[in-house]
Amino acid sequence: MYRIAPSLLSADFARLGDEVKDVIAGGADLMHFDVMDNHYVPNLTVGPLVCEALRPHCSVPIDVHLMVKPVDRIVPDFAKAGASIISFHPEASEHVDRTLSLIRDQGCKAGLVFNPATPLAWLDHVMDKVDLILIMSVNPGFGGQSFIASALPKIREVRRRIDESGRDIWLEVDGGVKADNIAAVAKAGADTFVAGSAVFGEKDRAAAIRRMREALAGA
Ligand code: DX5
Ligand code: ZN
Repeated sequence: MYRIAPSLLSADFARLGDEVKDVIAGGADLMHFDVMDNHYVPNLTVGPLVCEALRPHCSVPIDVHLMVKPVDRIVPDFAKAGASIISFHPEASEHVDRTLSLIRDQGCKAGLVFNPATPLAWLDHVMDKVDLILIMSVNPGFGGQSFIASALPKIREVRRRIDESGRDIWLEVDGGVKADNIAAVAKAGADTFVAGSAVFGEKDRAAAIRRMREALAGA
């Protein structure tokens, strides 16, 4: 019932295909793919071309996290490039409802992402249109930041809203998740865990993922 999604942001970009295979062999459930545009966030990463190139090496679903503004133009490109899930930040879209429908129309699961200071009110009218809710426990833009503790009550509130809706919506958490705090994040109600530096920063990625699963087993 728990999913671990290593974030490629902390991988060795000179050998991305091998990095993907390494973490999948090590037990990754999803591949988290961070897209940054040097506009919505102050960093620049990779686009659909790289997603498409990795697809044949990736036997798990690709979880695309768009940190871009505007959002809509790039959505079909990522769907064609093999994304299974496409998530975006509501402040970066002029029409959140339309963007969610666009993602689903392209055959992908649609996710909405909340920065530490983004209110959950964005969920009020779209619970029937989201497949995933992603709570940021850092401000987006960089890997290796520390977990912001105020994410925990927010995760609890999202869990309450999901349970109340009766829908099968995944609750993902992104930023500063490690083996020593993943159990607390799970207890707050998350089921899907992004981990960049905690996985790719370790030499033995399988051991890093195993330590997280062991911590989750005790949650
Ligand atoms: C940050 C990205 C994260 C990042 C997490 O903007 O969205 O996915 O890779 O990295 P860690 O796990 O190192 O905080
Ligand atoms: Zn991310």
